[in-house]
Amino acid sequence: MKPSQLFQTALTPDDLHTFFHEVRQTSERLGEPLSDADATVQSMPDASPAKWHLAHTTWFFEAMVLKPYVPSYEPFDEDFNFLFNSYYETLGARQPRPRRGMITRPALSQILDYRKHVDDALDSLLRTGSDRRIAELVELGCHHEQQHQELLLTDLLHLFAQNPLHPAYRDPGPVDVETADLPPLSFTEFDGAIVEVGHGSVGFAYDSEGPRHRALVEPFRLANRLVTNAEWADFIDDGGYKKSLLWLSEGWAKVQAEGWSEPLYWEERFGQNWTTTLRGFQPLDPAAPVTHISYFEADAFATWSGKRLPTEIEWETAAQGIAIQGNFLDTHRLRPKPASPHLGGLQQMFGDVWEWTRSAFSPYPRFRAVEGAVGEYNGKFMSGQFVLRGGSCVTPPGHIRASYRNFFPGHARWQFSGLRLAEDA
Ligand SMILES: [Fe+2]
Repeated sequence: MKPSQLFQTALTPDDLHTFFHEVRQTSERLGEPLSDADATVQSMPDASPAKWHLAHTTWFFEAMVLKPYVPSYEPFDEDFNFLFNSYYETLGARQPRPRRGMITRPALSQILDYRKHVDDALDSLLRTGSDRRIAELVELGCHHEQQHQELLLTDLLHLFAQNPLHPAYRDPGPVDVETADLPPLSFTEFDGAIVEVGHGSVGFAYDSEGPRHRALVEPFRLANRLVTNAEWADFIDDGGYKKSLLWLSEGWAKVQAEGWSEPLYWEERFGQNWTTTLRGFQPLDPAAPVTHISYFEADAFATWSGKRLPTEIEWETAAQGIAIQGNFLDTHRLRPKPASPHLGGLQQMFGDVWEWTRSAFSPYPRFRAVEGAVGEYNGKFMSGQFVLRGGSCVTPPGHIRASYRNFFPGHARWQFSGLRLAEDA
């Protein structure tokens, strides 16, 4: 097996052209409900303004494809390289991440003009037919933009949650609190084996998903569904946030320093739990999966339950062969959804909430970052973070795979992150 043969494309030129325009239009539709102010403010150093996401994803195509491969391309504005480079050391100096919210100008309308300028240049390039390297980079740019579509929404939710009026991004009507019975928690058993994991089939994957390789798993069991808000409330009522023995040391330090006592965005109001969502302030749905919890909270809950978090290898072993269907961005629900009482087997493996695993985000055996600036995409972040699997209710459909490795630091809470329990068999 060749090392890091990923970032490859299996799309025909026509399909790539269509994919490119679909992705670009989706981002603009996501931005439509936003005022210039909504799109400009930055609520914390980890979250970026929507305007920055719309511009940065455009810069990516300009910096990775147009400038290196199209000699006649004229940049929209040379200063944008400083404003909208995220973290690529090989592509020059940049605006510090915590100060992205200071970019009140260019206005949102100018960013949309910038998008059109780059779209037109890419459209011409894709119409003339391009070589394989360009096609790979354009497809990478599309998947990169889909990642930012999810971040745009999670960052916006964090921003709106700071507003005492709890504005809705979209569709502020109440979402029904589901009354259906949940399937009881049960566990599917998997034999111990030498398994194969990692991306090994045709089609796009990030470099960090490969190479496909063998791994040893001991016998384990995996829960049939995600942990719910009601179960999380039991953890709180039992003093879960007050018992140091449940927590990893770094997590307990966070509980004390940040005063954590419930998931991010929970708030007691009118004698019941409410939560800020992309659809505004809504009653918490007890049957829905808990979300906006850190790795440390997920781990403490699993310990309290007498269980543990799955490893990413266990999760992928279980996910291989399961159809990639679920509550993604295209359902427009914008919130995780309860499991069905009518389905057996493993539910909610894809969509709803990203599932914390106990695995550190580290290189697979024989991994090597690809050459050039795109080699900075994933490889340099392989320290101090944990892997999450399965996608969420704001992941664009088609963006997720069984081998997909998302990653965040253990204290991160603003993503749609939840958990599924596992245990040794
Ligand atoms: Fe990016």
